[in-house]
Amino acid sequence: MGSELETENQIHLLSAGGQHDDERLMDGFFTPDQEDSGARHSRLNLVALGNSSDGSLRMPAGTASGIGGARTSRRNGRNRLPRMLLEGKKLLITGVLTPQSIAFEVARIAQQEGAEIALTNFGKARALAQRTARRLPHPVDVLEMNANDPSQIKAVAHELEKRWGHLDGFLHAIAYAPPDSLGGAFMETPWDSVAVAIQTSAYSLKGLAEGMLPLMKEAGGSIVSLDFDASVAWPIYDWMGVSKAGLEAVSRYLARYLGEHDIRVNCVAAGPIRTMAGKSIPGFNDLAQAWSKRAPLGWNTGNAEPVGRAACYLLSDWSRGVTGEILHVDGGYHAMGANLHS
Ligand SMILES: NC(=O)c1ccc[n+]([C@@H]2O[C@H](COP(=O)([O-])OP(=O)(O)OC[C@H]3O[C@@H](n4cnc5c(N)ncnc54)[C@H](O)[C@@H]3O)[C@@H](O)[C@H]2O)c1
Repeated sequence: MGSELETENQIHLLSAGGQHDDERLMDGFFTPDQEDSGARHSRLNLVALGNSSDGSLRMPAGTASGIGGARTSRRNGRNRLPRMLLEGKKLLITGVLTPQSIAFEVARIAQQEGAEIALTNFGKARALAQRTARRLPHPVDVLEMNANDPSQIKAVAHELEKRWGHLDGFLHAIAYAPPDSLGGAFMETPWDSVAVAIQTSAYSLKGLAEGMLPLMKEAGGSIVSLDFDASVAWPIYDWMGVSKAGLEAVSRYLARYLGEHDIRVNCVAAGPIRTMAGKSIPGFNDLAQAWSKRAPLGWNTGNAEPVGRAACYLLSDWSRGVTGEILHVDGGYHAMGANLHS
């Protein structure tokens, strides 16, 4: 059975035994014959769906596709698994600004993988975000939400409750630091500027989690934020680096406080990406060059897709046991002690 299914469906069933607690996924997987022969009773743990050539999760040919598509379909008398990583998920994605935004990749991949999404941005950035949102596979509107304004967070939660009744997760892709907080003026930066950086880039994760909690606490869910490795001091990153250290800590504390609601909270620590926020960091090119010398997998500052995919994994049920984690998606840079070549 295994080899036939693996060939035809590109499904890897790696270990036998044990009741799979997501019965929904397995329902309809076995043919009646297989069920009769007891296969259903010794359910196999479904470890991973196979990859297509572009690395995306794929279901067998003949399975209904698209948002709201049928969960299973039959071909040759055999039921099929749901095909998409985020099928049926309702997700809030903040921070989409341009098509280069990391959040845009998360939104695009989330839609491709079956999620329904809502976007937010604020002020003038919202108008640009609205234009960008038209380039998604399924264009959506952009709700107004300044992450530093609890009343606007509440208004978004209210709107999402009307739309969906609940929320399965959200992406925090929000950062801002006044110009005097970055670029080498670390010793002179006044508290007022530092406060703006920390409030917008770290504290807002707690604000957003607090606002969305009523929509997530019944069924649980996943919170993901975008980080730049704050375990070390970088040149030029200065108070933004301190803010990211705060973000990582906020994420861990949220993991602690929200675990009882089955809500997971994780960071994706991305390598440098040429976005609006990225380019506004003085010396971004030096950082990018450092990556090209040290990351064993290489690093393309113009491609946020690997980061988007990792964030979608964390938003999905495939990361159900993961919380309080910092997942580095940086081509391996963080794990190297020195450059690859002298
Ligand atoms: N670009 C990189 O190299 C890089 C690397 C690691 C992590 N990150 C992080 O990824 C996240 C997204 O940034 P990006 O690089 O995609 O750039 P981006 O400029 O596309 O996105 C930043 C977003 O933050 C939003 N924002 C700022 N202040 C806000 C506020 N008060 N309320 C609501 N939204 C606000 C902006 O409108 C914008 O949409 C940020 O947290 C950033 O620090 C970026």
